[in-house]
Amino acid sequence: MKVAVFSTKSYDRAFLQEANARHNHQLEFFQARLDAQTAPLAAGYPGVCVFVNDLLDRPALEQLAQGGTRLVALRCAGFNNVDLPAAEELGVVVVRVPAYSPHAVAEHTVGLILSLNRKIHRAYQRVRDGNFSLQGLMGFDLVGKTAGVVGTGKIGAVVARILHGFGCRLLGFDPHPNPECRKLGLEYVPLEELLARSDIITLHCPLTPQTYHLINRDALQLLKPGAMLINTSRGAVIDTPAVIQALKSGHLGSLGLDVYEEEGDVFFQDLSDQVIQDDVLARLLTFPNVIVTGHQAFFTREALQAIAETTLGNITQFEQTGRCTNQVRAQEVVKPAQGG
Ligand code: NAI
Repeated sequence: MKVAVFSTKSYDRAFLQEANARHNHQLEFFQARLDAQTAPLAAGYPGVCVFVNDLLDRPALEQLAQGGTRLVALRCAGFNNVDLPAAEELGVVVVRVPAYSPHAVAEHTVGLILSLNRKIHRAYQRVRDGNFSLQGLMGFDLVGKTAGVVGTGKIGAVVARILHGFGCRLLGFDPHPNPECRKLGLEYVPLEELLARSDIITLHCPLTPQTYHLINRDALQLLKPGAMLINTSRGAVIDTPAVIQALKSGHLGSLGLDVYEEEGDVFFQDLSDQVIQDDVLARLLTFPNVIVTGHQAFFTREALQAIAETTLGNITQFEQTGRCTNQVRAQEVVKPAQGG
């Protein structure tokens, strides 16, 4: 199939081209993000391939449909950036990569926990500057601490398993409890209780209308003073200005983010010679007890290989049969279990 691949970086190209040796699609790579303005670039392409910050709202989808596009292949798990009812109305099939490497995201999550706790990000800078003082670098033992996992699906379950290995007590909140997590001794409790009892809270639920700003001012007030919050799911699951207030008051002890509500204008680009225009993000970056990574939790060799293979396999299946096992349908948006 002739496919316009949007938001491509050199690594996307490399992994997709390698996998395409087995699929033989005609891939055309565009650096641009897909939105209503750039959608005309896809005119004449029956397939488009997109990533997390491409914006497939109704106007963009209308442009695509007018240009003859019938398939949107997401090369990611989450589909919160696609207006699925509009796609269905326009006869555009949307497919995704439901799972590639939950380990990649889970291991990065634990990396954020360890770095924040032991202040490795600060120690790295300090030692390079010839400052070997330990003042301000004290952390805590993870063993015996309580970790609350919000969303115990594929990624949350791996995080739970790793933290179990550290000797943490595990709490979970998920409308669909996972028997694997229960086997680890994870105790399912209401969200309010999880927030109140956890030393570390880590978010692994999809972004849905139910999880939008799940961590807001009220939720933050329930936290133990000094608790750590980690978000590697989707930025809008937390209300960032509310989190900044909680950091300023000292109630929230530390914050690790791999995702940010307004990341679309910033992440995946080198803006190092520019002034950051987003004041909320700029404020976040001033805190010594905050680590922000630019949506890199998925970014391992194994994950990129799996993403490329599944994405091209989805396109092949659609081309050959007109359907795809990994199709996302509009009604899945309201089913909380179908995030990703
Ligand atoms: P999954 O679908 O296996 O698990 C999600 C879990 O969240 C399910 O068990 C579901 O029941 C639960 N859930 C749904 N609504 C909830 C709610 N209101 N409260 C609590 N739990 C709820 O998805 P997976 O693969 O574990 O991915 C989780 C999220 O991680 C994705 O939705 C995506 O947004 C994010 N992600 C981030 C990446 C990154 O690079 N930072 C890469 C891949 C995924």
